[in-house]
Amino acid sequence: MKVFSGIRPSGQLHIGNYLGAMRQWIKLQEIHDCIFCIVDLHAITTPYDPGELQKNITDAAIIYLAAGLDPEKSIFFVQSNIEEHSELAWLLGTIIPVGDLLRMTQYKEKSQELRKSPKAGLLNYPILMAADILLYQAELVPVGKDQQQHVELAREIARKFNRKFGKTFEMPEVFLPKMGAKIMSLQNPRKKMAKSEGKESYIALLDSSKTIKEKIMKAVTDPGKEIKYDLQRKPGISNLLTIYSLFSEKSLKEIEKEFKGKGYEDFKKSLAQLLIEKLEPFKTKQKELSKKEEYLEKILDGGAKKAKVLAQSTMKEVSQKMGLI
Ligand code: AMP
Ligand code: TRP
Repeated sequence: MKVFSGIRPSGQLHIGNYLGAMRQWIKLQEIHDCIFCIVDLHAITTPYDPGELQKNITDAAIIYLAAGLDPEKSIFFVQSNIEEHSELAWLLGTIIPVGDLLRMTQYKEKSQELRKSPKAGLLNYPILMAADILLYQAELVPVGKDQQQHVELAREIARKFNRKFGKTFEMPEVFLPKMGAKIMSLQNPRKKMAKSEGKESYIALLDSSKTIKEKIMKAVTDPGKEIKYDLQRKPGISNLLTIYSLFSEKSLKEIEKEFKGKGYEDFKKSLAQLLIEKLEPFKTKQKELSKKEEYLEKILDGGAKKAKVLAQSTMKEVSQKMGLI
């Protein structure tokens, strides 16, 4: 099957990104044809520092390679290197009603956060995302829960296009992890873990051991003292249990049993230790790769060359069907 996914190069990646998306990518590349993209054109839809963008792109590429993305198995490249993404997004914008974009949760949330007049780029974000996916005829799109609605919109766009111009696009399916599709903020377990929620609310993959420990010990928990998975009554502990389970590969039941009779502090200490251990290899790999600028460039250039061939082929078909050539 063809798989496509993207990640925004917007500063530090956190364990939510890892558990919701990156981990899936690494697994899927073993069994499918995968295309993974650093989506810089998406990163500029909210305020950003142009001086930092290239560094953020490099950092994102390094983290993915450190996490196990294998450029021999997957195509890995930077979105803006392939003009066809923007070109197809423009064409798809002509068949999707504005109303469909206005009802997207991410648009509503982000435009409210920004307060100052949200830009058309933010509204059009899901069209570009649909273009990313459809350009490569992807059938499977591994993302976290927050992006599910955008993948559904991509399906809707594909359906509309195929109906209007004849069968052109594959119907992409969202691929959510069974567990970890929505890791919550350490400071507010009713909200998702996100960079925008403040440093205390997430564990970055490159956080130092000291920082990891501090953030976990300060994580918001719930009334009572039992280590028990109960999303309604114990959202804080349930989130920490989910993180523990995914990193330790133990079931929730096993962990509950292990911590029976113990308090939050013991559990948090253990979780901090587990995260420190599991994130250590990222840091080592990251340091190694940071020194290999040329190697990195070669990988991304090679990826872009392969992606270009696929993108051009779809664009030719789309342009023909739409009467542009
Ligand atoms: P972003 O950093 O928003 O570009 O997200 C990159 C990927 O990580 C997307 O597939 C998101 O759905 C996923 N993701 C982001 N935040 C979380 C979270 N808190 N829990 C699970 N997945 C997430
Ligand atoms: N919008 C996604 C996010 O914020 C990133 C993304 C861009 C993406 N294009 C994509 C994900 C295509 C999957 C497929 O996380």
